[in-house]
Amino acid sequence: MQDDIDHVLIDRHAISRRLDELAQAIAVDLKAETKDGPGEITLVPILTGGIIFLADLIRRLPIPMQIRVMSVTSYPGTATSSRGASIEAELTKLPDDLSNNHVVVIDDILDSGNTLRLVKEVIQKRNPISLRTCVLLRKKIPSAMEFDVDYFAFDIPDEFVVGYGLDYNDYYRNLPDIVTLKKHVYAQT
Ligand code: IMP
Ligand code: MG
Repeated sequence: MQDDIDHVLIDRHAISRRLDELAQAIAVDLKAETKDGPGEITLVPILTGGIIFLADLIRRLPIPMQIRVMSVTSYPGTATSSRGASIEAELTKLPDDLSNNHVVVIDDILDSGNTLRLVKEVIQKRNPISLRTCVLLRKKIPSAMEFDVDYFAFDIPDEFVVGYGLDYNDYYRNLPDIVTLKKHVYAQT
């Protein structure tokens, strides 16, 4: 696996430091929302790429919350560009009614914006009190930069990256750093 890495874009220490800042900002906003008004906090991680980010983020958020997962596919198998987002119903555990909830969607990366657009639409229909989006990475391309995301940790160049939850053909999610892969990896599949 290590032999497949071309270069490290963001290492584990930089991720950890940035997550401290990001969690602080999110905690301040959510505490303000729930201080005087009604509502519970619900985090919605997008499977599978968002799970490592979620795990590290929530342990920095000292506030009561529930987790409700959603599964969205857009990069099936060995695809390295979006094929259009669709929801996987069996793996999605979203309550029908979110009218007492402040919702924060957590995903690994913002690329075409198709995933978050779809997810926001589906959640909005369930009438949350507030709805925010949070991604670890945002690609420096117009579709991602124009998307109105509430929180992001890093802007990255328009490259295909893996590690820290992000996959290629479902592999490499367990790499602790965010990296690019050598060309021979894509040539094989
Ligand atoms: P979007 O729907 O095009 O914004 O892309 C969001 C989803 O595509 C993410 O949740 C990822 O699963 C996947 N994705 C986009 N870019 C990359 C990448 O560079 N590496 C791995 N997965 C990616
Ligand atoms: Mg994903």
